[in-house]
Amino acid sequence: MKRTHHCNALRETELGQKVCLAGWIQSIRDHGGLLFLDLRDREGMTQIVCNPNRENLREILPSLKDESVVEIIGEVRLRPDDARNERMATGTIEVLAEELVAHNIADTLPFPIHEKSDRVNEDLRLTYRYLDLRRRKNLDRLRLRHRVTQIVRHYLDEQGFIEIETPLLFKSTPEGAREFLVPSRLNPGSFYALNQSPQQYKQMLMVAGVERYYSLTRCFRDEDLRADRQPEFTQIDLEMSFIDRKDIYKLVEEVLASIWKATLGIELKLPFRRMSFQDAMDHYGSDKPDMRWDFLIQDLSEVFKCSEFKVFRNCVEEGGVIKAINIKGLADITQGELQHCEEVARSLGAKGLAYIRCEGGAWKSPIEKFFSKEEKKVLAEKLSMEEGDIIFFAAHRWEKACTILGRIRLEAIELLLKRKKIARDSSRFDFLWVVNFPLMTYDEEQGRYVATHHPFTAPLPEDERWLWEKPECVRGQHYDIVLNGVELGGGSIRIHQPELQRRIFEEVLKIPPEVVEDRFGYMLRAFRYGAPPHGGIALGLDRLVAMLAGTESVRDVIAFPKTQSGQELMTSSPTPVSKKQLQDVWIASVADEKLGKKS
Ligand code: AMO
Ligand code: AMP
Repeated sequence: MKRTHHCNALRETELGQKVCLAGWIQSIRDHGGLLFLDLRDREGMTQIVCNPNRENLREILPSLKDESVVEIIGEVRLRPDDARNERMATGTIEVLAEELVAHNIADTLPFPIHEKSDRVNEDLRLTYRYLDLRRRKNLDRLRLRHRVTQIVRHYLDEQGFIEIETPLLFKSTPEGAREFLVPSRLNPGSFYALNQSPQQYKQMLMVAGVERYYSLTRCFRDEDLRADRQPEFTQIDLEMSFIDRKDIYKLVEEVLASIWKATLGIELKLPFRRMSFQDAMDHYGSDKPDMRWDFLIQDLSEVFKCSEFKVFRNCVEEGGVIKAINIKGLADITQGELQHCEEVARSLGAKGLAYIRCEGGAWKSPIEKFFSKEEKKVLAEKLSMEEGDIIFFAAHRWEKACTILGRIRLEAIELLLKRKKIARDSSRFDFLWVVNFPLMTYDEEQGRYVATHHPFTAPLPEDERWLWEKPECVRGQHYDIVLNGVELGGGSIRIHQPELQRRIFEEVLKIPPEVVEDRFGYMLRAFRYGAPPHGGIALGLDRLVAMLAGTESVRDVIAFPKTQSGQELMTSSPTPVSKKQLQDVWIASVADEKLGKKS
């Protein structure tokens, strides 16, 4: 007999039917002569009752272990009233087994499937990821990811987008993140780089006249990994011709709205808010502000520019700013927590972290004694200081001061959450477009400007005149989509004029002409043969699904993710390879030498 039903299918409507179920044994319970098996497949669970004295069950039953794979033929019957299980979809019925075939008897598992995931060490779960994925929650996450990609494909298809695959073996262009190199056997001494994104190919597709391209594509970046970063991840990548920024905003908002509607049943309010980079930094100290919390950073440079407190006065005199943030209700911060916050501030370049605690009707602060009466009054007003508040200060260059308090803001929010003075609302999704980023950022280490997004981003037309003298004053047509403090995606309107693109490479980014020719010559040439104005965006699929699933780690929504140290534990990759394999691709390893082995 072939399988007739899934384990979540049977109800009272099937009473008396002979059925065949197949799946994994979730648990075996011995109840005074009768054995109860919970049989599980990807759809759900059904209770199976076995009489151990029954002739064709007698031998097999004692050998069964949890997670063995079996097939069962039997009759659907009503459970006795006191044995009904309201929490189970199939909880009013059970199947009385007549025959049982064991396809595979499982060994004792390294961890029980029904145990809550967070009780099992993540490395162990990833080593046995196929067991970990048997958990309902994890399977649901894979299904959620599948749903999202289906919605995206359907939506973009309807909007006239063509799905096109672009090469993963790309050319090394060491401008962005560190890349993964792949040696070419057929071209001795030469390497591909795994693509960090299809950026240049999708622009070439616009020159080719495709007009609307998309792809759900794997990207590779050899970065330091964190909860929201994997070395290989997936982008929903798209590009359009003859459009402006507003067209992209509208399209992305509609895609996201249909995803949220279909998966969580939530109607997103459109259009999303927009905020300039300048405002995001000024008020939230971040280019990806978490808008769920109100605490805003204030500028107090005016107040302290003539202050007796030298640290602040000197800072303003030297062109810096004084920023402050009032964290309401955190005056009870402990010495240890305060120290931690100061360390965080120092790690970002602060010389200290001045504060005022409003407690017991007084201000408690190492710097309050330096403030005049008038300064205190303005301070109290501007920051609406009340009993129970704590104010943090940062005196620094604008961007540093904002960044420091932005991080302190997030640390403080965690502390308030821990104290249950504020609470997270899992159904709250605060989307935001951050726009008008500076096109270029000065990189102190390299002593030159680097592109804030990437070098193909077009400047705002009204700022273009500053490009050659004051590149830091030019804003780019770059936009990021942010959700609850996470950067979900980013994109831009591109440069499509060959001369402007060449001058940005050579005169602003100071890339030598021969290097420009070698890396981007094909692109500059392409732009001379008829290039449409174009722009696009890439959304991080892993981050998007993680947000929908309510988890902070993208590892939770990737079938076989890599650990923080870049390892895939199930197959134990990466591994060393033989000398012969290396020679075949023209590589001599220095690993042996460094480890002191004989060659
Ligand atoms: P960007 O580099 O901003 O843009 O990447 C777009 C989005 O991809 C996601 N992302 C990641 N997700 C997981 N792990 C990573 N290591 C990782 N790195 C990036 C983020 C990010 O917002 N070509 C441009 C897009 C364009 O201009 O059209 C690009 O790649 O969610
Ligand atoms: P000092 O006079 O250097 O001892 O500093 C007095 C207080 O100001 C200490 O609490 C320092 O942590 C703090 N502080 C010093 N420099 C800064 C700065 N740039 N921004 C914010 N606080 C600072």
